[in-house]
Amino acid sequence: MITRIIIMDFGSQVTELIARRIRKSGVYCEIFPFNINLKVIKNFGASGVILSGGPYSVYDKNAPRVPNSVFDMKVPILGICYGAQLLCHQLGGIVAQSKEQEFGRAEITIKNSCLLFDKLLPLGTIQTVWMSHKDRITSVPPGFKAVATTPSSPFASFANDQRRIYGLLFHPEVAHTPCGSQLLHNFTYKVVGGRANWNMTNYKDQVIAKIRKQVGNDKVICGLSGGVDSLVAALLIHKAIDNQLTCIFVDNGLMRSGEAEEFNRLFRKQYNIPLITLNASDEFLNELEGIDNPEVKRKIIGKLFIKIFDSEAKKIGGAKFLAQGTLYTDVIESVSNINGPLVSIKSHHNVGGLPNVMKMELVEPLRKLFKDEVRALGRELGIPDNLINRHPFPGPGLAIRLIGTITKEKLSILISADSIYLDEIRKAGLYDEIWQAFVVLLPMRTVGVMGDSRTYDYACVLRAVTASDGMTADYYQFSHDFLGRTATRIVNEVRGINRVTYDITSKPPSTIEWE
Ligand code: XMP
Repeated sequence: MITRIIIMDFGSQVTELIARRIRKSGVYCEIFPFNINLKVIKNFGASGVILSGGPYSVYDKNAPRVPNSVFDMKVPILGICYGAQLLCHQLGGIVAQSKEQEFGRAEITIKNSCLLFDKLLPLGTIQTVWMSHKDRITSVPPGFKAVATTPSSPFASFANDQRRIYGLLFHPEVAHTPCGSQLLHNFTYKVVGGRANWNMTNYKDQVIAKIRKQVGNDKVICGLSGGVDSLVAALLIHKAIDNQLTCIFVDNGLMRSGEAEEFNRLFRKQYNIPLITLNASDEFLNELEGIDNPEVKRKIIGKLFIKIFDSEAKKIGGAKFLAQGTLYTDVIESVSNINGPLVSIKSHHNVGGLPNVMKMELVEPLRKLFKDEVRALGRELGIPDNLINRHPFPGPGLAIRLIGTITKEKLSILISADSIYLDEIRKAGLYDEIWQAFVVLLPMRTVGVMGDSRTYDYACVLRAVTASDGMTADYYQFSHDFLGRTATRIVNEVRGINRVTYDITSKPPSTIEWE
């Protein structure tokens, strides 16, 4: 039987990391909001359930609960943080409000053995873990035993091997819990008895069959952006339905230097898939004229793309479907887990920025995949490494890296500065270490002095981050030497910029893009 694990999300900021760890170990899992229709859970066919953490106390008025049907499935359950408190509370233990909250690093001591800790943490071991909870457990449910303690938590972990139910007050999914990946591995393989069957070779065949079924004899158009996601989506669809697929590459004038030409050349050389290339720069720039609000920019761009796709679909005799390279992280970030949409941060044009009037149905073969899985799938499909490892580039392009109103003059300044920055990064051999690097052009001008003359030119910002999927990110620590060299080149070579700064904020609290 295929092993599949459900992660029930109670609103933790790090739920997605659980999914990444489980999948990395070779088992398929999906995240569902805790209040998902129970039929969906049943149909999923879970071999095990993980309950995530969350911002609640079990005593909160509307505190979410584990549906009883989850216990009725009689499959192994692992509760993490709030998930562990819920297990305790719902199965007859006691969760108490505590004066001593535990946030950050803590040391657990192993007091009892259990299958979850098997061959990993022997009795008496002291281990560093990462905690983030207020309430604590003062008594475990009947039939359960304490497995680990901290000075302020007598039940930092508890277990019932017979029922195969486990609770961890700490977070095994974060890097600050060094044994965490191994604990999740133990849950998946020892407790659930899972078999590794999640890999891109299997997935490729499944998804191709699924596309064939969804599309039937109809036509699909796929917007290519020049990035790896839309290319992988197109190749999968082409494998599924051959020339029922037409690809469209729209140059919206908001791309980096030489990007449109380079991508078209590579695509036409490598693949025998019908491709329509359009230059719609003027249309996009006209529509964006005078607009400085980031959300309005995003919506205008999303709408225009769809208008163009609709009109091209008509020209090829009508396409019922539009394909997109939407990823699982886009879906997680835009789908509400608790009580309707979470605060909307940005309208990602793959998901949130599409106009409601769109006539075509969507085909999204990467909707369940993380970026590293898409890259692995791309390799499986034979896409060359230089394309696979390209930094992500947002759908709205440079429009959201040019703060304020967009003009051709500012765009050309930004494109030149960006190309110098990336050139320096490549020359220093740093490109593959960085998740994304780009220049942001500020709408303000500052005073400078060049060759004894006063300048009054734009200031720009260099941004570079490391990340594993873009949901969180750290700024990249360039050497001062590198930053100085790059700033000097930009100021010397780009007319219109006389000041360069480096952005050293992480996400959160910032986002990767500036708009
Ligand atoms: P933020 O700025 O939200 O970005 O931290 C996270 C990741 O998403 C990319 N991004 C987009 N990608 N359409 C896309 O296809 C969009 O509208 C969009 N907005 C942001 C961003 O470049 C980063 O990799």
